[in-house]
This record gives sequence, C-alpha cells and structure tokens, in this order.
Amino acid sequence: MEFNVKTTTPEKQRSACLIITVSQKRKLSRSGELLDSASGGFLSKILRSGDIDGRLGQSLMLHNVPGIQADRVLLVGCGKAREMNDRTFIKILNSVSTELNDTAAIDACSYLTDISLKERDTSWKVLHNVLLMWHSHYQFDRLKSDRPNHKKSLRKLTLNVPDRRDLAKARQAAEQGMAIGKGMDLARDLGNLPANICTPAYLAKQARQLAKAHKKLRVDVLDEADMRELKMGSLLSVSAGSREPAKLITLQYNGGKAKQKPIVLVGKGVTFDTGGISLKPGAAMDEMKFDMCGAASVIGTLNAVATMQLPINVVGIIPTTENMPDGLATKPGDIVTSMSGQTIEILNTDAEGRLILCDALTYAEKYNPRCVIDIATLTGACIVALGKIPSAVLGNHQPLIDDLIRSGNQIEDKVWELPLWEEYQDQLKSNFADMANIGGRDAGTITAACFLSRFTKKYKWAHLDIAGTAWKSGEDKGSTGRPVPLLTQYILNQL
Ligand code: BES
Ligand code: MN
Ligand code: ZN
Repeated sequence: MEFNVKTTTPEKQRSACLIITVSQKRKLSRSGELLDSASGGFLSKILRSGDIDGRLGQSLMLHNVPGIQADRVLLVGCGKAREMNDRTFIKILNSVSTELNDTAAIDACSYLTDISLKERDTSWKVLHNVLLMWHSHYQFDRLKSDRPNHKKSLRKLTLNVPDRRDLAKARQAAEQGMAIGKGMDLARDLGNLPANICTPAYLAKQARQLAKAHKKLRVDVLDEADMRELKMGSLLSVSAGSREPAKLITLQYNGGKAKQKPIVLVGKGVTFDTGGISLKPGAAMDEMKFDMCGAASVIGTLNAVATMQLPINVVGIIPTTENMPDGLATKPGDIVTSMSGQTIEILNTDAEGRLILCDALTYAEKYNPRCVIDIATLTGACIVALGKIPSAVLGNHQPLIDDLIRSGNQIEDKVWELPLWEEYQDQLKSNFADMANIGGRDAGTITAACFLSRFTKKYKWAHLDIAGTAWKSGEDKGSTGRPVPLLTQYILNQL
C-alpha cells in the first residue's frame, strides 16, 4: 500500500473515498464543514435525517455527493469530543479500515487528523493511521490455492495534514509507520508459517536475505559444532531431540558510530515446541509453531530499523531450534552445563525457552551491549496473570523497564511490569545442580525471569514475555507482529 501525506482541500480532492468524522451530536469536523458548504448543505441534511448522529462505531457511506470531486464520502462516528482518547482513536481507525476493505475503492483520503486528541500531535495520528491501515491490509494466503479472488482493493491512502507547518514531521511519521508495518508483516509471516517450512535453517536463510537487502546489516550463523565449541550445553540440550539442526543467528545493524555500544535484542526461536519428553497435551498444540515469535519480532524490528536507516547500532541474536521428543532427547533430571559455567537440572523439558535464551544471553556479552532486551513466548503463566492485552516486562534496571513501558504506551503495544524480587529466586533451588529450570506452580512468569536473571548480571537487561500477545487463537488465529512496534519505538526514542 502507498501513502501520501499532504495538506488538501477536501471539496477539491479527487479520490474514490473521503473519510470524514462526525462527533456527537451531529457535529461535522472542520473538513466535513467545508464539504458541507461545497455540497450545498448535503451533509447536514443527511445528519438531520437521523441516519448517523456521531456515536462511536457508527458509519455511513455516501455516494454522489454533489459539488465535490470525490466518488464517495465515508462518515464515521467518533463519539463525544471530550471522551476521545488513544484507544477510541484506534477503534475508529479499525472500523474505517474494515469499511474500506468492504468497498471497491482503490484509493482514499483520510481526514481523521481532524480529531483532536490530548497530548497527541498530527504526527502521532498519521503514524497510527498508516500503521493500522497497513496492519488490517495484511493477508497470509500464500499457502492457499484460490487466493486471487480475495485481494483487498485499497491501494493508496492520502493523509490530510491540517497545518502545513506539520508536513515534514508528518511525512517522517508516515515513513516510520510504513517501516514498522513492514517489520510487522515480516514478523507475522514468519510466525504464521508452519513449522515444517519455518525451521531454524529457514530463519537463518531469512536473516541472510535481509542482510543482503540492507547495506548496514551483517549476518552470522553458528551451527551446532560452533555452539559445542562455545560450550552452549544448555541450548544444545534442547536441540538434542530434534532432527532439524539448531542455529544461532546474529544480525548486526551498524547505523551508528563504530564505537557506540549496541542495543542487543535476543529472541526466542523455538520453531516448534512439543514440550520434548515432558510432552504437551494435544489440544491446540499446533499453536506452538508460534513459539518463535520472539525471534520473528527481532528480525522484524531489525528490518524496520534498517529500512529507516536509523543512526544507531542494534544487534539481534536468535537462538533457534525445535523442541522434540526422541531417543536422544534430554530427559527430566538431566543436568547440563551452560556457556556461563553454571549447571542446570532440567526438571521439565517443556521449560526449554529459558534454556536456549540463557546461552544466547551469555553470548550477548561479547557485543558489549548498552542494554539487552530479550523477547520470548516464555510462559503460559503470563497469560494467566495478564491476559492478552499487555506483554510482561521484568528486568534488572528500572530506567530501562520504564523506557519500555513508556514506548509501549506511545505506540499502543503495551507492557506491564511484574516484580523480579530476590525472594522468588528460592523457587529455583536444585538438590543436584546450581539451579533447576522450573520454579513450581506459583508465579511462573516471574521464576522464568529469575532463571534468566542469573545470566544477565553483566549488563542492563529487560525481559519481555510475549506469550499472550504474539498471536491470536480461535477464529482469527494468527501472528500479531507484536512487539515490533514497541521495540522500534523504544529504539527511536534512544536516538
Ligand atoms: N512456549 C511455552 C509457553 C507458552 C505456552 C506460550 C502456551 C504460550 C502459550 C513454553 O516453552 C512452555 O512450555 N512453558 C511452560 C513452562 C513450565 C513447564 C514451567 C509453561 O508455561 O507451561
Ligand atoms: Mn515449552
Ligand atoms: Zn516454548
């Protein structure tokens, strides 16, 4: 999809569809009023007819409005002006995009920037308009045979900027929205691909392709022999039961000065999680193809950063493997030695994410990071604690956590902090090794983070548990592309 950012006159705008807001009761926006007078009061007559009074969720598509250049006008209700907030704005965007996808319009011009929002400027509205249109336009149909019939028609969206002085910033916001959108698409594609296609080797191939497409991006892929040399006994214990060889992928984006410390992102890349010998129950096990969404978000974020050519250094590290049961698979009670030298008693082979992350987190030290953020579909307990609205964040450096919370609020990709208190560490005690890989039933998300915290003492670190946010189940089953927006916004905020 193509986006255009301009200051336009609605009555003269040639377009298949103008998107105009109506607030309660029956109050046209600035652009709506311009159209109304150009059309000789046509719009106010419609409002008086009572078919739309501006309530949130209402919409009305008008054809052949007299006196204007556009083919259609879509009136969208946006509720009471003083009740308008970020969530409402995004709800409106969602209903507009559904509405547009149901028409044959191939281009549209959005005047949603007329909506006034506390503490949000035109750029914010432009970015979200682009991002949501992009997001709703996503289709994953490459594995279906009859796809050409369902193509969505909208191809170009023009965004109105009421004040010319905001144009430059608004254009930049649209660029950012598109870059984030593309990054999310990539993350969603990788997540949605089934595990027989999206293997560790496939992820490595994708990373290589990405590095080829961007000059400032370098890739490095370690195989199991390299990992053995580095003594990554924990990571290798997870891949032991799989016929697909594990990989450790590093993507290095060098946009900043050579000496600038990088932000390091570490993403869990379990391409399928059966649980291993601690086998999972069968119901909905197919969704464990999404267990590499952390990895996908790292790849998507690096794509966004490279597309925007940001002047900053970012490293993505992706430990990737399957978790399978097999004659050679790790057994409950097995003890392994991690790259850090610490020993781990594996009491449950289904707590495999932390086992691959811990070695990747030790490996991250070599990049002398400014901070490390790991992203993982780590615990079912996270969904129990927080549901599917925010991701969980925990870490060892409060300013980093606060920055992530702020970035998440800014781009509507929210995170909520859970406490990483010392008291929880006791749950990881093992009679036979330095630690166990599980901490019992209580506070599963926190004890998982406690485990990781033992491998992140040398740098500022935050952990994102995206078990509830990375994909949707049920009728709209599919990858969400989260937390690419959050991570990209965080990086933008560090410039
Ligand atoms: N990938 C899962 C976590 C998960 C489960 C995410 C369901 C989303 C939905 C992870 O590897 C796992 O199996 N975790 C276990 C940990 C437990 C054995 C301590 C879990 O959450 O049950
Ligand atoms: Mn598991
Ligand atoms: Zn898992």
